[in-house]
Amino acid sequence: MEKSLVLIKPDAVQRGLAGEIISRLERKGLKIVAMRMLRMDEAMARRHYAIHEGKAFFDDLVRFIVSGPIIAIVFQGRHAVDAVRQMAGATDPARAQTGTIRGDLGMDIGHNLIHGSDSLENASDEIDLFFTAEDILSYDRETDRWIY
Ligand code: RTP
Ligand code: MG
Repeated sequence: MEKSLVLIKPDAVQRGLAGEIISRLERKGLKIVAMRMLRMDEAMARRHYAIHEGKAFFDDLVRFIVSGPIIAIVFQGRHAVDAVRQMAGATDPARAQTGTIRGDLGMDIGHNLIHGSDSLENASDEIDLFFTAEDILSYDRETDRWIY
């Protein structure tokens, strides 16, 4: 089953929106298989966002993501990567549709509350940055047969 790395970004933690965001993803049917709270350091932030190195917003992005604690979560489910991206909404909350996390809860592209992996390949690399293989739990939920 697919896995996606979600980060509840520093703005969401500070605004007390972590529970709401996690709850939305859980209610969709996605399963939490790993979770930790941490504060990223600059080296980790630069690795996580390496694909954006050199872009105009890169330094601001790194400064923002290390500015406070975040919650890293691995969500598992069928089409988990796409499901999380759809629920997060467009990168810029001003353009994100109502009903999405960014569309409902955000105002600014630099404070867009959530990160979700954008491909299966990137999800795997991103998960490895935050978690060891032993951190990822494998378990059944009774409700899964009502989701699938
Ligand atoms: P993320 O990686 O955080 O899940 O967001 P994303 O895929 O929707 O967007 P991405 O293109 O990967 O950009 C990463 C983060 O950089 C900030 N950004 N700022 N000022 C700008 O033009 C700009 N573009 C991107 C956003 O905070 C975005 O989440
Ligand atoms: Mg991205």
